[in-house]
Amino acid sequence: MRNSLPVAQAADLSSCQAGEVEFTIRPALPSDDERVIQIAAEGDFDNCDSVYLSFIRATGQLLCATVDETAVAFAGMVPVADIAMVTDLFVAQAARGQGVGGRLLAELLAGRTQSMTFSAQHPAAQSAYRRAGMAPRCRMLYLSGSAIGGGPKLVPGGWIHGRDELVGYFVGRGAVITPNAVVLIGATGVEVLRLDAVNAIDECQQLLRAFEAGTNVKLYVPEMHPLAAWLLAQQFVITDHDLLFTTDAVALPATLAALHPGLA
Ligand SMILES: CC(C)(COP(=O)(O)OP(=O)(O)OC[C@H]1O[C@@H](n2cnc3c(N)ncnc32)[C@H](O)[C@@H]1OP(=O)(O)O)[C@@H](O)C(=O)NCCC(=O)NCCS
Repeated sequence: MRNSLPVAQAADLSSCQAGEVEFTIRPALPSDDERVIQIAAEGDFDNCDSVYLSFIRATGQLLCATVDETAVAFAGMVPVADIAMVTDLFVAQAARGQGVGGRLLAELLAGRTQSMTFSAQHPAAQSAYRRAGMAPRCRMLYLSGSAIGGGPKLVPGGWIHGRDELVGYFVGRGAVITPNAVVLIGATGVEVLRLDAVNAIDECQQLLRAFEAGTNVKLYVPEMHPLAAWLLAQQFVITDHDLLFTTDAVALPATLAALHPGLA
C-alpha cells in the first residue's frame, strides 16, 4: 500500500511557499480525514467520507497541503494502467488563489507522464490542469432520464472489463454488477456507475427496460460517445457537465460508454 510511511519521514515532506502562504505537502493520513472532508464540502463534494478516502489511499495516492499541521488542501489520484487519474483537487476557500492547488497537483503528478481528470467548471481547476500538461478533450455529460420498463430484471453476474479494485469499491457501496454494467439502485432511482460494451446502446436499452417505467436513471457519458446522442434522443437531459482533460495520447476506450466522473 502506498503512503503508509509515517508523516515525519523526510522523503514524504515537501515544504513550499506560494504567494504569502507557506505550506507543507505530505501524504494525507486517516487522522486528516475530518478536515479533508470539510475541505471537500467547501468545494461541493458532499459525499466525501472516510471509506472513499481509504480507497484512494489504498489504490493510489492522497496528498494534503498543511499549514501548521492542519490540512488546507488535498489531492488524490488512482492509477488506470499507466495513466494517473486525478480524482480530487480541493483547496479550502480561505487558501484558494494563492498557488496551493497548482503546487499540490504538480507534486501529485511528479514523475507521471500520462494523466487525466474530469474537471469541474471552476476556472482555477482548468488553469491548474493545463499547467500540469493536460488539455480539454470533451464534455462529460451528467444525464438524467427515465427507465422504460417492460424488460427482464437485471441478472447480476461477474464484471469482465477490468478495474476490479474500482468495481469492488462500488460493490462495497452497494452496487449491483452485471458483465457489462455497474449499477447503484437507491431509493430515488438508479445510477449507472459504469457501462462498458461493444454495443453500448443495446446494453443501455436493456438496462432502461430492466427497471420500472418512470424510475429515475442517472449516468455520466462522454459527449463524443454515441450513447450520449442516443440518450438525448430518449429525452434524457443534461443536468451538469465536467470537462475531460488528458495529456496527449490518452484516450478513453471506445467501448467505455458510461463512467464515474470522479473515479473514471
Ligand atoms: C480549483 C482549485 C483546486 C485550484 O486551487 P487554487 O489553490 O485556488 O489555485 P492556484 O492558486 O494554484 O491557481 C491555479 C491556476 O488557476 C489560476 N487561478 C486561480 N484562481 C483563479 C480564478 N479565481 N479564476 C481564474 N483562474 C484562477 C491561477 O492563476 C493558476 O493558473 P496558472 O498556473 O496558469 O498561473 C481550488 O480553487 C478549489 O478548490 N476550487 C473549488 C473546488 C474545485 O472546483 N475543485 C476542482 C475539482 S475538478
